[in-house]
Amino acid sequence: MEFRAAGPEDLAAVMSIERRAHFHPWSESVIRRYLQKPGSAWVAQKEGTVVGWAVITLIAGEAELLMIAVDPNSQGQGIGRALMNFLLAYLTGQHAEQWFLDVRESNAAAIHLYESMGFCLAGNRPNYYPTADGHEDALLYCLDLQP
Ligand SMILES: CC(C)(COP(=O)(O)OP(=O)(O)OC[C@H]1O[C@@H](n2cnc3c(N)ncnc32)[C@H](O)[C@@H]1OP(=O)(O)O)[C@@H](O)C(=O)NCCC(=O)NCCS
Repeated sequence: MEFRAAGPEDLAAVMSIERRAHFHPWSESVIRRYLQKPGSAWVAQKEGTVVGWAVITLIAGEAELLMIAVDPNSQGQGIGRALMNFLLAYLTGQHAEQWFLDVRESNAAAIHLYESMGFCLAGNRPNYYPTADGHEDALLYCLDLQP
């Protein structure tokens, strides 16, 4: 598996993953914006095919994971974990101090992944995410990146 910075040429592949991986995918205009922003969007590639992507920000030592999605046909094969470990190494190399993310409280797979990497629950945002029939909380997680 390879990891590389994403660019505008990845729009079609990323949109295909977004539309199939999420109940509420990001819009094309939002995806376009991050694909143009250096250092933000990254892809995991297997045999030349984009199988996952992630978006991070890094401001004044504080990193945030804004998005991670793996192609549903390739989930459960370690790609999400490998992409997170790649980003962890990248952010550590950029001297990030803390890495934040938020996740739907119902997203057991993602929560399992984040907690197994050492992310700690730091708070919650009540009724933050829309669901099919209402809203659900966001759980806010944080990982210290520097000793
Ligand atoms: C969350 C996501 C990125 C994980 O990627 P993945 O490639 O499927 O995950 P991995 O194969 O690397 O597995 C990571 C861990 O999650 C666990 N996991 C995977 N699917 C799971 C499920 N359905 N239920 C519980 N745990 C699950 C695995 O057991 C694994 O832990 P392990 O290594 O201890 O076995 C992927 O499922 C996804 O794209 N989901 C839809 C989008 C999303 O929810 N993104 C996160 C919030 S923005």
